[in-house]
Amino acid sequence: MGLFLSELVAIDVLFVLAASILAIWIYFQHTYQYWERKGVPYLKPTFPYGNVKVIFKKTLHTTTDAKTWYDELKIKGHKFGGVYTFSRRRLVLVDPEYIKDVLTKDFNHFIDRNDHVDEKNNPKGAHLFNIRNPGWKPLRQKLTPTFTSGKMKMMFNSVLECSNYMIDFMKKDVQDGQDIDSREIMAAFTTDVIGSVAFGVECNSFDNSKPEFLNMGRRLLDGGKFSSLLIFIASICPGIGKTLGALAKDSLPKAFFTEVVRSTLEYRKNNKVRRPDFLQLLLDMHEEPTDSEKYVNFNQIVANTILFFIAGFDTSSTTMNFTLYELARNPQIQEKTRDEINTVLAKYQGKITYEALQEMTYLQQVIDETLRLWPPLISLERICTKDYTLRDTNIVIEKGTAIEISPLGLGRDPEYFPNPEKFDPERFTAEEKLKRHPYVHIPFGEGPRNCIGLRFGLMQSRIGIIRVLTNFKLSISSKTKMPLTVSSQYFLLKSNEKLYLRAERI
Ligand code: HEM
Repeated sequence: MGLFLSELVAIDVLFVLAASILAIWIYFQHTYQYWERKGVPYLKPTFPYGNVKVIFKKTLHTTTDAKTWYDELKIKGHKFGGVYTFSRRRLVLVDPEYIKDVLTKDFNHFIDRNDHVDEKNNPKGAHLFNIRNPGWKPLRQKLTPTFTSGKMKMMFNSVLECSNYMIDFMKKDVQDGQDIDSREIMAAFTTDVIGSVAFGVECNSFDNSKPEFLNMGRRLLDGGKFSSLLIFIASICPGIGKTLGALAKDSLPKAFFTEVVRSTLEYRKNNKVRRPDFLQLLLDMHEEPTDSEKYVNFNQIVANTILFFIAGFDTSSTTMNFTLYELARNPQIQEKTRDEINTVLAKYQGKITYEALQEMTYLQQVIDETLRLWPPLISLERICTKDYTLRDTNIVIEKGTAIEISPLGLGRDPEYFPNPEKFDPERFTAEEKLKRHPYVHIPFGEGPRNCIGLRFGLMQSRIGIIRVLTNFKLSISSKTKMPLTVSSQYFLLKSNEKLYLRAERI
């Protein structure tokens, strides 16, 4: 009797399972006709992944897929096209005029970046990058004054000081005859910088016994276990996806950073200590807001210092890492960059100053060319927040549709950058830039929701590169597998291969 009952239960479970799979399949088949029904060109999806190509690894990011979609639509001659991430509809923009419309001209229809964050239950996750309107606009206005050139100058010396630790560390490696692990060294440098200017603490990332900040930063950036499964669930049922996403997140790094902010704020208050950094600017807005609109609460301080850390450390270290890679394999360009740096510094008695950086135009061309080939944020996203008619068409993009833009696809498009694999900073002279549509090179995004930390990111990247080039001559180590290729395991740009450099003291 017992056996018979358990068999019945098993049959019931199987039946429910089969019925659920069938229901999901029917739902997906209906969803997959969406772009066709609207008369939008589209790339053919397959159940259940849609157009996601990198499937069910530990982590999954559609970022490299964004380039593949861009390339496939471009080859077919489309200016835009529909895809699906699992069952989620997504419009990929190819033509720079449409990109300009979405990011800038008609921004009011595309204010939000994503919709997977549960702001109510996760207030410390509601930082500027994730937050949706109506919260985003006032927060952006509050934080914008934190990034003026005046504030950058205030933080300049802290960045310079951190670069000393990096150079000392590299000198030791070189003395011991070791190759330079570029990615690790650049990440340690930017961790020290952001730790200092965002949290007001010394992170000691070059002291191998205590790289706690670096480790916690990496854990914070990790999408967490089961991220591909969660994207799949969120595509069918966003509410459950959000809740599960919050539960699956590694909570330790957030607790760690919250405690750092709390104890630093307490120390500064009790000891009346002031420092020229991001945390102080936020603390002033907390304690002495010039008006109620400028007030930030404790959760906003924590969320945004953590965000500055996330947004600031890996993007800038990636920029430096790939710049050094390109300079190491292009010795003539390396020499020309070093010559410019030395010439400008000679005017400033050998001192690196904020003003000297602005005069290094060739260095900026080198960084621009690096960001063209290796943009740290491989794909940009917006959510349509109000129905919108695409220009010169009758196609209405419905509220809730995700929009995908691929800086990597644009940057490697031979129509805009002939012989795209070639590293050639001459593409970014003022004259050459005028010949191109400005929206084909958008490594910092564009429009009102572009990168708020652009100036700071460029400042720390320039300082890091200047310090390395004035101390070392670089070449690629025989340990590095060339050419570097883009990994799909991370939402920011990362190479599959490790980058080792040979450095010779100058
Ligand atoms: C070279 C370094 C950097 C690069 C390449 C970079 C790139 C980007 C990109 C592509 C976006 C998205 C823009 C869009 O969707 O249109 C972004 C947003 C953002 N970045 Fe950066 N970033 C860098 C450094 C930084 C730094 C140092 C900080 C802060 C300390 C920062 C803070 C932010 C924030 C807060 C946002 C969200 C802005 C908003 O939604 O209003 N970034 N960044």
